[in-house]
Amino acid sequence: MILHVFFGVIVFVHAGNAARILGIVPTPSYSHQVVFQPLWRELSLRGHQVTTLTTDPIKDPALTNLTEIDLHSSYDVWNKKIMVNILSYKENALVAIINFITQLIEIEDEQMRNPNVQALLKSDEKYDLVIIEGFMPAMSAFAVKFQCPLIAMVSTAGHSGLHNLIGNPTHPVLYPDVIYPYDEEMSLSQRISSVVSTFLFSLASSYGNSLQDQLMKKHFGSNYPSIDEIMGNTSMLFVNSDNIFHKIQPLVPSVVQIGGGSHLRPPKPLPHDLKEQLDNANNGFIYFSLGSNVKSKNIPMETRITILETFSELPYTVLWKFEAENLPNQPDNVIISKWLPQQDVLRHPNIKLFITQGGLQSSDETIHSGVPIVGMPFFGDQAANIKKMVTKGVGLSVEYTTLEKDDFKGKILEVIQNPKYRNRVNELVALVRDQPMTGMERAVWWTEYVIRNKGAAHLRSPLLDMPWYQYLLLDVFAVLLFCFAFTAYTFYILVRFLSRFIRRLLNNRDKKLK
Ligand SMILES: *[C@@H]1O[C@H](CO)[C@@H](O)[C@H](O)[C@H]1NC(C)=O
Ligand SMILES: *[C@@H]1O[C@H](CO)[C@@H](O)[C@H](O)[C@H]1NC(C)=O
Repeated sequence: MILHVFFGVIVFVHAGNAARILGIVPTPSYSHQVVFQPLWRELSLRGHQVTTLTTDPIKDPALTNLTEIDLHSSYDVWNKKIMVNILSYKENALVAIINFITQLIEIEDEQMRNPNVQALLKSDEKYDLVIIEGFMPAMSAFAVKFQCPLIAMVSTAGHSGLHNLIGNPTHPVLYPDVIYPYDEEMSLSQRISSVVSTFLFSLASSYGNSLQDQLMKKHFGSNYPSIDEIMGNTSMLFVNSDNIFHKIQPLVPSVVQIGGGSHLRPPKPLPHDLKEQLDNANNGFIYFSLGSNVKSKNIPMETRITILETFSELPYTVLWKFEAENLPNQPDNVIISKWLPQQDVLRHPNIKLFITQGGLQSSDETIHSGVPIVGMPFFGDQAANIKKMVTKGVGLSVEYTTLEKDDFKGKILEVIQNPKYRNRVNELVALVRDQPMTGMERAVWWTEYVIRNKGAAHLRSPLLDMPWYQYLLLDVFAVLLFCFAFTAYTFYILVRFLSRFIRRLLNNRDKKLK
């Protein structure tokens, strides 16, 4: 079934002429890159000449039409500064966001100084399309340089900033941003908080864009249009969401959902030693991984001790993705490994449970593999993803900042021993597989559509050309309010006049009667 999902992409016939495509994915995070890789692979196999700027090149010699500019060194700043800050959870949120924004600029500046990127900046090559990760837009100026259409793509569901960019209506209560851990029913205080944080976030993001703009002009030249103008000209937005995992939201035609396990690979056999260990886990095993950004070796010591004590009391084998050589006080039933083929581990028949940080890729993988979860979210969209899974009934969650052994152990045992969680996740597996086209097929089709039609200006959302006060109906309400007030006032005057008139009549009559 998963094989079908994957190979479905490859079988479609070659359509249109080969194009030259520039793909730019600046974020040094494997979980971001892994969503783009299948697209580069597919487009190059379909005969397009694809050049990518990426921190994680695929390095597959069979992909002869794919040229990769390696920006791997960006991981230095990302791991040493950004991830350490996020995990220390000592800064207040505002300071953390400002730091994050400036550190992204530091990363992009280094990337633009890369000799191969400089060569591209000075080249007079021709490109037919630029696809950029919408998260770090400075290099979107390449679309202006090469005079070609631009597609923005993100490895998460689109946030309101991106939806505003492309003119897709947003609503902070009906469709709260993915970074807020809200689900279907929000309390009044959550709704207020969502409105206020969406507003503050949009301020932070315009500050971020002004820095992106300065950086872009430093490298491309001051005669370039602003980042807002360039990004406001994107032909399409590809978002990594689907209608099974994500909340239902109406989308304009220029927003295309490419989510729902697009990055899944066909199964591969597990490495021999690992396979033997998992085959021999007679009571079954639990897989514990915090993803590629949160390093288990960096989590606070108290938390780690609680985790180890909990695991030591479980009747199951625990496979822990742990990034150091040694885990002090490692219990007998715990196996550690620095790297694991996660998709294949999740497909092993002995797996009972996935303890996950709830990154979107891990969430997709666990749902496609039919494995229930205990969530332990850290940052970004993780809390929201975990909350969605808990609401959908595929598992339970814990807080890593206040982790307690009894609670953690109780939840692990409940999810493994109560069949309702696994039954629920199997219902979702059936739904994710029952779709007309995979997310990746949609991404490839719409990419070639934009190339064929030299953009998608005819799909431009009318919202982009409507002043904000008209969209918010402020002028309409103002006029209606005025009419209402005017009518009410006229009515009041009339009533007052009539009542005086009648009173006077009565008075006169009274006088006459006397
Ligand atoms: C490379 O592109 C050409 C057409 O431009 C195509 O015929 C060929 O199959 C592609 N090769 C690979 C390995 O993708
Ligand atoms: C917007 O995109 C079109 C091509 O899709 C291009 O002709 C135009 O110059 C672009 N404008 C800006 C400001 O980038």
